[in-house]
Amino acid sequence: MPLVPTADLVARAAAARGCVAAFNVITLEHAEAIARGAEEAGFPAILQISENAVRYHGGRIAPLAAASGAVAEASGVGLSLHLDHATDLRLVQQAADTGFSSAMFDAGALPHAENVTATAAAAAWAHGAGLWLEAELGYVGGKPDAPASAHADGVRTDPAEALDFVNRTGVDALAVAVGSSHAMTRRTAALDHALIARLRRTVPVPLVLHGSSGVPDEELGAAVRVGMVKINFGTALNIAFTRTVRAVLSEEPVQVDPRTYLGAARASVADTVRDLLTRLAASPPAEGDTGQRGTDDHRHGSVGQ
Ligand code: G3H
Ligand code: ZN
Repeated sequence: MPLVPTADLVARAAAARGCVAAFNVITLEHAEAIARGAEEAGFPAILQISENAVRYHGGRIAPLAAASGAVAEASGVGLSLHLDHATDLRLVQQAADTGFSSAMFDAGALPHAENVTATAAAAAWAHGAGLWLEAELGYVGGKPDAPASAHADGVRTDPAEALDFVNRTGVDALAVAVGSSHAMTRRTAALDHALIARLRRTVPVPLVLHGSSGVPDEELGAAVRVGMVKINFGTALNIAFTRTVRAVLSEEPVQVDPRTYLGAARASVADTVRDLLTRLAASPPAEGDTGQRGTDDHRHGSVGQ
């Protein structure tokens, strides 16, 4: 199955009132595990490579992008390639040449006016290059000189400001602050469902949830039912990966073949991806929904309802 565009996966998910999950790729084993987990669950997914992951690979985007793209091409489900949390427009420009169909431009740490200007420029460039662009509204109402990460504790996105931001920047999707935080290792986050519903009614583009590893299954299901479309996971995969490496090496302290512990870690990440996708799909439908879940062939469709 070919690499598919992120725009198609998100549009199908939004049309079905479901979601599409996006998983962060750091190594080849992550990409292989995400593909395997998505195949086992029978749902499409987005492979995300972050600016931080590119930095880890010596600042070179092409090797991991090429490997992830090749994994997607060989997959039995639709997988797309997305650049995550890019703060440098030059990296977005490199992504356009290396198989990505989408990017998140993250100017959320800038003061609001600068975030709007930088994001509008990034969206104009991305659209000219055929890329779908996600952005983040990085500060919350009434304090234009007090930037904060949209995913910091306590920060929330104001619906009227989100509408204005989307109108002024022309972005295709918006990451919003509704109670999740990045890099949580326990699933204890509580989301503001009423705010998600208001954002969905107000904002004309699909909403994106970051920091989903810290959100319990039932909260994720509720978030999708009231309007979240793209659900980003990273830390959950790394917990599985690292826990498994640690277990294998402590059981076999003389082991030197990396295929033993990396292979076990890859299998563990695949199980995590499969389980996250399966549980998202199992969340009960929203009130008034017809019960239809995505498309008939859900390998191209969406997860959850
Ligand atoms: O952009 C990526 C996600 O927001 C990942 O967040 O590592 O907390 O799941 P997480
Ligand atoms: Zn994120």
